Amino acid sequence: MSLNTIEINRLMNRFDSHDSVWLFGYGSLIFKADFPFIERRPASIAGWSRRFWQGSHDHRGTESAPGRVLTLVPEEGATCHGMAYLVTPEEFAHLDHREKNGYLRLATEMTFEDGGRLEGIVYIATADNAAYLGPASERDIARQIATAHGPSGPNSEYLLELARALRELGKHDEHVHAIEGHLEEFTRAAR
Ligand code: SIN
Repeated sequence: MSLNTIEINRLMNRFDSHDSVWLFGYGSLIFKADFPFIERRPASIAGWSRRFWQGSHDHRGTESAPGRVLTLVPEEGATCHGMAYLVTPEEFAHLDHREKNGYLRLATEMTFEDGGRLEGIVYIATADNAAYLGPASERDIARQIATAHGPSGPNSEYLLELARALRELGKHDEHVHAIEGHLEEFTRAAR
């Protein structure tokens, strides 16, 4: 399954004339920065929550056994903590390719730890994309993540790396850390 959002994202030219653009990462972009950046700073965005509701058929799963990766869902009063990267607009060709399975570039305001706010880009996979899997219990999500595997590696690695990176940032995410707990339980039981 591939919705391939590369062409749609290429039309998002809002920041093309800028020398540099802030990119907000909340998932793999926190722990796997495989692109050059000018600067990186912890940041947050308001009104969004991280959820393992997006299917991964190209990175952490396959067509027949998709993995689950993160997207953001709107939630009043919520704050999503992550990492912001200052990049040149040219980096978006690589980023669009990496995030091609359903993610769209969206302009967003992000807040830095010193309280400063700037506009930039975040990749979001909305409920109407073909790879969207939607809600499930955190236990069922952990069960799916425990077995899925794709070209970028095991789905469990995505979850565990993210959970570790959030701890390093000093941020607790109920959803992510609950799924991590279930995964550890399944791993212990399988020993
Ligand atoms: C992100 O990390 O900001 C987008 C979702 C992902 O690539 O995991």
